[in-house]
Formats: sequence, structure tokens, C-alpha cells
Amino acid sequence: MFSEKSIIVTGAASGIGRACARRLLGAENQVVAVDLEREALETALGAESDCLKFFTGDVARTMTADGAAALAVESFGCVDGLAHFAAAHSKLNWDQADEDEFNRIMSVNITGPFLMAKAAAQVMIDQGTKGAIVLTSSGGVLMGGTGENGRGGPAYTTSKGGVLVLVRTLAKSWGKYGIRVNAISPGVVETAMTSEYSDEAMAGAASRAALGRVSQPEEQAAAAIWLLSDESGFITGENTNINGGAAFG
Ligand SMILES: NC(=O)c1ccc[n+]([C@@H]2O[C@H](COP(=O)([O-])OP(=O)(O)OC[C@H]3O[C@@H](n4cnc5c(N)ncnc54)[C@H](O)[C@@H]3O)[C@@H](O)[C@H]2O)c1
Repeated sequence: MFSEKSIIVTGAASGIGRACARRLLGAENQVVAVDLEREALETALGAESDCLKFFTGDVARTMTADGAAALAVESFGCVDGLAHFAAAHSKLNWDQADEDEFNRIMSVNITGPFLMAKAAAQVMIDQGTKGAIVLTSSGGVLMGGTGENGRGGPAYTTSKGGVLVLVRTLAKSWGKYGIRVNAISPGVVETAMTSEYSDEAMAGAASRAALGRVSQPEEQAAAAIWLLSDESGFITGENTNINGGAAFG
């Protein structure tokens, strides 16, 4: 684990993002925490401090991405990394998902990580320092999505498949600047996103994993932080499955 780095964490009010922000702050890093509502950020992480700043807004908007990056520079002098977890879930299957639903999910889950990564990388390029970016895909990409048994529907899984392509594309563009871009693909994690899953769906997810259980957000955060650290310094454009050995099918 590193310390005294300036990291932007999105989706920081809940689940994996909250666990990541807490862990980074615990190791004396500086965090710009991004989410939709300030109150939720305060509830999750406590009040703003010299090491913690909040930026509220939709990650799919340029003003949010650029604003969060500017706040990191203003508050901490630089941007060393981005841990992007914010996303919207959709369980609607093909026959229920309409134009609006598909576009909503694509906007948050594809445009969002693109704009956040672009804003963070632009600062790194301008400041002439290397950095690392982690975007979040999903184990659901491997199995497709019907929205049943606690799985995402086609809009969600397609958006998360796009994240893997985005990671490869951006890694190619920014490698020459020493900026690494990687994805994590969580299996089922106990967070607000999965709180509506039935007991049966959660048990099914646990039984599909070799480890026989679902994941805790801290386990996902730890892997993302490792991908931000110099210990993974020659890894870029890759996806890391963090699913307890799930045999998706
Ligand atoms: N929980 C799982 O089982 C699971 C499995 C695979 C992948 N993932 C992925 O992991 C990431 C984190 O998920 P989680 O389980 O911690 O979810 P969560 O619902 O607990 O947290 C997501 C956070 O993102 C925020 N958010 C949503 N839309 C936003 C937007 N447009 N702009 C800014 N913030 C927004 C929410 O307010 C929330 O605080 C997501 O990308 C999710 O798709 C989760």
C-alpha cells in the first residue's frame, strides 16, 4: 500500500467505493470522493478534512469529471490515480429494457468511466507524472445477462463489457505517458447494489464460487488499490477477475 497520493474515488458513498476511500484515507492518502449526494458521502466517510474532499455530481457529465480532477489539483496539487466504481445497475431483460433504460445505463456505465478517466489522465499528462486508473467491469460479462437470479440484464452486462474494451483502448493511448489503465471484474459483492437480490440468488452466487461465498467490498477495494500501486507497475490494459473462483455459465 502507498501513502500520500492524491486519488479520485467515484461511487465513494457506498459499497466498494466507500471501502476503497476508507482504506486509502487510513493509509494517509488524499482522496476526492465523488458521488451523487453530499449527505451520503458525509455519512459514509465523515466530514471533509485536509485529506478528504467531496465532489457531487453525475459521473456521466463532463462538468463532474473535470470538476473532480480540478478539485484534486486545487486541494492536493496533483492527481496520482483514479479508482472508478460508480455505476447503475439494471435487471431488466431484453423484453422490458427500452431505449431510455439502455441509454441511461450506457451513459452512467460507459460515458461515465470514459469522462472520469479522460479528466484524470489529462491532469497527469499536463503535470508530466505517471499515474494509474482502475475502472470497474463485472463478472456478469462472462455469462451474459438476463436479469434473473440476481444477475444484471443486457443493458448492464453490455455496458460492463464495454468497460473492458475502454480499458484496453485507453491503456494503448496513455502508455507512452506512463499512465496505466486496468479493470477489476467483481463477482457478487455484498453491497447496496445487491441488497435487493433474493436469498436464493445470493446462495446461488456463493455456490458458483470455488470459495463458496460472495465477496465483501473490502476485498474488491484491496485489489483495486494494488492495481493503483507501483507493485503492479508493468500491468496495463488488463482485467482482474475478483470472484472467488466463480465458474460462470
Ligand atoms: N456489488 C456487486 O455484486 C458487483 C458485482 C460486479 C460489479 N460491480 C460493480 O462494482 C462497482 C461498485 O458497485 P457497488 O456494489 O459498490 O455499488 P453501490 O450501489 O453500493 O455503490 C455505487 C455508488 O455509485 C454511486 N453512483 C451511481 N450512479 C452514479 C452516477 N451517475 N454518478 C455518481 N455516482 C453514482 C451510487 O450513488 C453509489 O454510492 C460498480 O461499478 C458495479 O457495477 C458490483
